[in-house]
Amino acid sequence: MAKSEFRLGSDDPASMDQATAASELAALATEIARHDQLYHGHDAPEISDADYDRLIARNRTLEAAFPLLVRADSPSQRVGAALPAQGLFGKVRHVRPMLSLSNGFSDEDIEGFVTRVRKFLSLADTDKAQFVAEPKIDGLSLSLRYEHGRLIQAATRGDGTEGEDVTANVMQIARLPKQLAGSPPAVLEVRGEMYMNRQDFLALNAAQNDAGKKVFANPRNAAAGSLRQKDATITGQRKLQFFAYSMGETSASIADSHWEFLQALREFGFSVNNLSRRCDDVDALIATYRAIGSQRVDLPYDIDGVVYKIDRHDYQERLGQVARAPRWAMAHKFPAEQAETVILAIDIQVGRTGALTPVARLVPILVGGVIVSNATLHNEDEIARKDIKIGDRVVIQRAGDVIPQIVHVIEKVRSGAEQTFEFPVHCPVCNAPAIRPDGEAVRRCTGGLNCPAQLFEGLKHFVARNAFDIEGLGARQIEQFIELGWVKAPADIFRLDNKADALAALDGYGELSIKKLMQAIAARREIGLERFIYALGIRQVGQATARLLALYYGSAEAMLTALNPDADLDAAHQALVEIDQIGSAVADDITSFFANRDLYQLIVDLAALLTILPPQRPAENSPISGKTMVFTGTLARMSRAEAKAKAESLGARVAGTVSAKTDFLVAGADAGSKARKAAEIGVTVLDEDGYLALINQA
Ligand code: IVH
Repeated sequence: MAKSEFRLGSDDPASMDQATAASELAALATEIARHDQLYHGHDAPEISDADYDRLIARNRTLEAAFPLLVRADSPSQRVGAALPAQGLFGKVRHVRPMLSLSNGFSDEDIEGFVTRVRKFLSLADTDKAQFVAEPKIDGLSLSLRYEHGRLIQAATRGDGTEGEDVTANVMQIARLPKQLAGSPPAVLEVRGEMYMNRQDFLALNAAQNDAGKKVFANPRNAAAGSLRQKDATITGQRKLQFFAYSMGETSASIADSHWEFLQALREFGFSVNNLSRRCDDVDALIATYRAIGSQRVDLPYDIDGVVYKIDRHDYQERLGQVARAPRWAMAHKFPAEQAETVILAIDIQVGRTGALTPVARLVPILVGGVIVSNATLHNEDEIARKDIKIGDRVVIQRAGDVIPQIVHVIEKVRSGAEQTFEFPVHCPVCNAPAIRPDGEAVRRCTGGLNCPAQLFEGLKHFVARNAFDIEGLGARQIEQFIELGWVKAPADIFRLDNKADALAALDGYGELSIKKLMQAIAARREIGLERFIYALGIRQVGQATARLLALYYGSAEAMLTALNPDADLDAAHQALVEIDQIGSAVADDITSFFANRDLYQLIVDLAALLTILPPQRPAENSPISGKTMVFTGTLARMSRAEAKAKAESLGARVAGTVSAKTDFLVAGADAGSKARKAAEIGVTVLDEDGYLALINQA
């Protein structure tokens, strides 16, 4: 691969001569331009944002010391050009969301999965439940929509709800049916994995290299990059392939089971992976996993695990999904790939919540087809536990998209020159004290949003895809706006509209890119409550918890009233832990986040600039929508987990404990203290039949 031999300089500019500085600036300009190109291709960034930022910072330091040496092609002279390519592809909303998969790594994880599924469905030991095991293809998922047998639209997964319209590109791919055989339903969305064979990937890279064009890090990036071409005919020249494995929207049922569905897909003309097997029990699943694993190196394409799916469609339906992954499927990942290298240095990164994370800088090494030059060390205890020193030779591993980790030090090759790392007790960015509370593993910077690193990371999260999703506002723009003093808090993003003229005066921002940015910001003045909550970046509050909070509070006003710093925080905490699936530790993080007066005020300021829409409840007019339900005891016709999931899908809130806010307690056999408490405080108690009658399922 055409990798440059670039090394980031560290000489003190005060002691450098002009010629040395000029040559380092020239090298930086070339290197940064190369990374810009990789980044804009969206498919092959070679370095992390932090490393990129280091290049920019070094360039800035040198330019400050040698202003006469600023080059016309310096990155500092064309900041705005860094705006990501926008609007190349339109958006497509997925009628049925494109889900991801939860992962398992050990046989026990898989046994746990099968047991959970069987329990959810209340299956007796004698009841059979088959699963299909199929290879997990390492490509990118695609949804293909056919109407009356004709391919009419192709979309990428995107965030699962909305993807990119890549129809024109997909139409150019030869090995993909444009017209289905047999008798498919009028509307049929088929999902599967687009991928590139290893051999085709190597040939493509060789050709790219010869032509002086960018090479791809692995077949998956090559497939993604080949699909997202401005010129669709280039997509057609790349050897892309597709395995079909799941179903989106359909106008009629095709099969009662996944296995039959796969056979139907074959008849419609799709390629379906022929290593897939239907299995009767856990042992058969694990045997299939081992069999597929042993063929892995000989397969023409990359796979990174085996996916298990419960076979019967009615079971899939009953099991439904948690957050973004189906309960009825799981990916069993292959073990991580390992390699040996040397630790050059240990740096500290400061995250959004102030966490100080040590990162090992490594002599770059190829692991499983990707060049790795950083590994996370998690926290100070991990460094001590693994006795990691700077200069150590170490075994590292990387599994899929997970950040590479250090497995262990190879102690026998130590020379004695290795250095112990002193973990800082001040933030390396803002110098505020970094505190590690008793019993916690993580040391955190106490600078809050006054710490440039926390502000930067917080804002990056704020505008990210699952949060405010503001196109054209990425890490580089945020860094620039922070530096210019325009953005000191999230609300300032919505005040950028009075900066249009100032932006125009900056090099590189054209009229069009400014207009697009302003439009993208304006479009997000209206935002759903769950995205709003997620965007705040509260510790431990991911998308799933944000949704629970949105459903619970119903509006931003209600949330900001319940959690304001002068409110009764014990009561607010108690209310939070009563929400099913929110535990005490998460409730602690939520209440202490809002208890910070400065932060609270920033959120109120932000909310004042926005229209925050109430969450869409799954069913607005079901008999239990908006009601708070508690389930207790053993139900006869379904497991408690299924009953809860059903109630949530009908728009109810499910709580874990009975309180004055409970509307109904559904009590199965052997209900204990909850039933007594409900009787005491006058909450309506329903038995299973009464509940099913209420939701019209009797
Ligand atoms: S099923 C609801 N089956 O893995 C079903 N996914 O980590 C969701 N993938 O986004 C997907 N091979 O891109 C499924 N045989 C397979 C797969 C597969 C690869 C990918 C897919 C998905 C990702 C989740």
